[in-house]
Amino acid sequence: AESAPEPPAGLRFDMVAPNTEDKVITPEGYENDVVIRWGDPVVDGAPEWTIDGQTPEDAEKQFGFNCDFAALLPIEGSDKRFLLVSNHEYTTPQQMFPGYDADNPSEDHVKIEWANHGLSIVEVEGNDSDGRLKPVMGEYNRRITATTEFRVTGPAAGSDLLKTSEDESGTKVLGTLNNCAGSVTPWGTILSGEENVDQYFAGGDRVPDDEDRERFARYGMEDDETARKWERFDKRFDISEEPNEAHRFNWVVEIDPWDPKSTPVKHTALGRFKHEAAAIHVADDGTIVAYSGDDSRFEYIYKFVSSKKVVEGDDADARRENMKALDEGVLYVATFEGNSDDFEENTLPEDGAFDGTGRWSKLATCKADGSVESHVDGMSGEEVLVFTRFAADEAGATKMDRPEDVEAHPETGKVYAALTNNEYRGAGRPGKDDEPAMEYAPVKENKNGYVLEMDDDTAGEEFTWNLLLVCGDPESAETYFGGFDKSSVSPISCPDNLAFDSFGNLWVSTDGNALESNDGLFAVSLEGDTRGLTKQFLTVPVGAETCGPVVTESRVIVNVQHPGEDDEATVETGTSHWPEGGDSLARPSTVVAWRSDGGSIGE
Ligand code: FEO
Ligand code: CA
Ligand code: CA
Ligand code: CA
Repeated sequence: AESAPEPPAGLRFDMVAPNTEDKVITPEGYENDVVIRWGDPVVDGAPEWTIDGQTPEDAEKQFGFNCDFAALLPIEGSDKRFLLVSNHEYTTPQQMFPGYDADNPSEDHVKIEWANHGLSIVEVEGNDSDGRLKPVMGEYNRRITATTEFRVTGPAAGSDLLKTSEDESGTKVLGTLNNCAGSVTPWGTILSGEENVDQYFAGGDRVPDDEDRERFARYGMEDDETARKWERFDKRFDISEEPNEAHRFNWVVEIDPWDPKSTPVKHTALGRFKHEAAAIHVADDGTIVAYSGDDSRFEYIYKFVSSKKVVEGDDADARRENMKALDEGVLYVATFEGNSDDFEENTLPEDGAFDGTGRWSKLATCKADGSVESHVDGMSGEEVLVFTRFAADEAGATKMDRPEDVEAHPETGKVYAALTNNEYRGAGRPGKDDEPAMEYAPVKENKNGYVLEMDDDTAGEEFTWNLLLVCGDPESAETYFGGFDKSSVSPISCPDNLAFDSFGNLWVSTDGNALESNDGLFAVSLEGDTRGLTKQFLTVPVGAETCGPVVTESRVIVNVQHPGEDDEATVETGTSHWPEGGDSLARPSTVVAWRSDGGSIGE
């Protein structure tokens, strides 16, 4: 037999084997260390965190809970200092507070939860001897929480659908919630997606009007009370009291991390759904495109094409100008079609690829004067932006298996989407909870997910696509690794976040591994005779998902989210004790990995 091709630069490391250890494991010849933990000081005056000493005031100054997206931005004029930007997706009070009573949370507990949402911006500093990074009190350090003021931009700003008793302008929102993944824009700002915000809003089932109630239900807001019970402490979380507050979440937010006094914005032109994230691609002619996935079963992939061209640079002027680019342009949703008539579930088609063509359907055109034109019968432009899921239904968009991170390759411009899993696919459930296996979603009761590759002509309305990976155990017949020899790849399950290294490889982090191993981070070759080669670079502790990730020449950064998460786990019975070990409480934390000999990652 021919010997396997050499891995390309970026993938030259010994793969980490699947495991269930309560630690971060990196390849032989690599080391890793915690950068910052939940509760560590972020802004001036923050005290050291103690489990019994938590207060709402202190939590607003400390690193929030459940770090998800991470960015590492070099600070000009220093080769050792960076801005670490981190999302804090959600709180798990049972794992934060000793003796937490889920039936009767205290006001302090709820306010500490609010402070633990949002984002942290914190300077980190390296040293001369290894890859370690430590937080420092820098001029950019900032916490953004569930009560920080945001400005609403784009055509739905000021809409009647966004006005509340506290904000008759419909343009000022307190806070951001459930910030899942995100991206760094070419102009140096941060985009972050407000994902599963339904869990914060009660009373959706008490809305009297049938059509309104259906609208809330389509966004998952159909419960009398929430498990968190925040509605007891602020009526804005009760839809029956304050019906429009919920419409002020589920957006893409943009933050200028270089101006700690700046008011972050919510971009209505990108539509309202369970945004995993949004990522920008700038075409050669300066056209700005934002891609975004709606992470629920049988939801859609969207793109927004700005009518403004990029302003080159990442200085303050460029940032200010480019932050307006996501307010005018066209919002589209994707339709996929396979090209193999012989397609059968769980089987590679005869043409040797899960592939085909696609089309972008126009939903709304957002204009320079702040108005919006609808392309959907029976919906106004503002309705298309606020109730985007209905607009996409109407447009006949293709129901996907939980679109998570969608990112464009910085050199090739090809667009990659993590489709994490969907056990309902082809499972014979009633009504909207079932769709058959299709060439773009070939596995019945899909437990392990896919990585989709799209060749999109940016501002155009057509694209081609193929599945780069059909994830799972490579020994299972239905898996597919870009055509690469499956005997030499790592098992991979539930892709969630995507990044690229400086060699052009794709890096994929996972959440929800269905193969009886902890979650991890994988490098995937995209080109040449190693296309599809997939190698596990690290695993995270028990119960955690792997987030971030950031891959630079000399470092890999991941956020270790929800270590020890388990339906039963409490502070008292935690299933993880990472990072401190012993019988300590698990703490979501940012981790950095580097090569012991100081060399480039994977080279
Ligand atoms: Fe928050 Fe879609 O993962
Ligand atoms: Ca095909
Ligand atoms: Ca995610
Ligand atoms: Ca996830």
